[in-house]
Amino acid sequence: MDLGSLQLGVATAATQIEGGHADTNWHRWAAQPGRIKDGSTPARAADHWNRVDQDIALLGELGVRHYRMGLEWARLEPTPGQFDPGALQHYRDELTKLRDAGITPLVTLHHFNNPGWLEEKGAWLTGAALPAYLRFVRHIVTQLKDLVSEWITINEPNVYATEGYLRGLWPPGHNSLPETLRVMSHMAQAHGRAYDIIHALQPGARVGVAHHLRPFDPARRINPLDRLGAKVMELGFQTALLDAMTIGRFRFPLWGGTPGKLRRCADFIGVNYYERSWVRGVNPGTRPGCVTNDLGWEIYPEGLTRLLTHIAGRYPLPIYITENGTADATDAFRPRFIVEHLQAALASGAPVQRYYHWCFTDNWEWAEGEGPRFGLVELDYETQARTIRKSGRLYADMVAHGGLTDEAYGRWLRVSV
Ligand code: FCB
Repeated sequence: MDLGSLQLGVATAATQIEGGHADTNWHRWAAQPGRIKDGSTPARAADHWNRVDQDIALLGELGVRHYRMGLEWARLEPTPGQFDPGALQHYRDELTKLRDAGITPLVTLHHFNNPGWLEEKGAWLTGAALPAYLRFVRHIVTQLKDLVSEWITINEPNVYATEGYLRGLWPPGHNSLPETLRVMSHMAQAHGRAYDIIHALQPGARVGVAHHLRPFDPARRINPLDRLGAKVMELGFQTALLDAMTIGRFRFPLWGGTPGKLRRCADFIGVNYYERSWVRGVNPGTRPGCVTNDLGWEIYPEGLTRLLTHIAGRYPLPIYITENGTADATDAFRPRFIVEHLQAALASGAPVQRYYHWCFTDNWEWAEGEGPRFGLVELDYETQARTIRKSGRLYADMVAHGGLTDEAYGRWLRVSV
């Protein structure tokens, strides 16, 4: 497999790897009994805040030239309008070291993480988030634009909204469809404003959103209810957000923007891909009998081809796969997972410029806690020892050769019979 111009990188998010006691929505949520499956909190995670040098050395071992990382808003702005110069300097140092190591950062400005003070005011459900977020974006981009030119404004607005406001499994634990749609609309509006602010500050910047996308397939192919359910979910969960946050087209069930006026508000489309939804009526589920990962998510590489083909036909923009990976504690199927998803991306013929594997290291997986293992690098939470997995070695080999060589295939993937 020849990757051509497709560049490989790895991804992380601040709250999932940094550790420490920042006052975020997640630290507060994890402090409530029963919220996190294994009772863990983000305070331990991968202790990345104290291990930046070690982790950059590991990135060097993988050989990647692209690294997607997040910023912890609550560290940078611990009280409204008061920015912490020490936290800013920490990120400046990290970004400088990355650049010195020849690694281009792609920085996420919001990845499910709000400062506690914003959460108290109702965050994205109320009018509080928009001005606070734009103030944060303006300050951070001004301070970091000499080191960063690629930005993700918001990660997975659909997942943030549905887990927190519909399913109630994430902070703030609500169960309301109108609230979910309000949060999505506010995030879509915030992205458009942030896009303009970043470009005004840094005309050459590349700005986009990391969208969580999945195929929605009717469980019973000719059942009209399943077909309708799949269509409605596809529109409500992703297509409406994609349109609003790429071309400024706001339509039902979202609101905002200028009616009838389209405009470009993305320089690339970020795609996070994990699984498909198998829809029965109005219930998204998993196809019975399919091959799944440790979290029960279907492993379905063709889904990536389908999504990329669809997106490339809809928007004339480059595509970054901003996340793709799998929970596999024993690294039994991750090597094959990676290769098959890269093949699926190439097979689409879409202009995919980057692929960021989720995740660089094992990390704190939100409400699932420390259980799921997504890393190319294995983490021992007790000792914080890091060990590159077999899949990580394969990945490094693909980075070095611009694809999968026959030798690497024989070494990492051939099944002996
Ligand atoms: C995505 C999130 C990321 C990680 C992976 C497994 O939805 O963006 O932070 O949790 O799932």
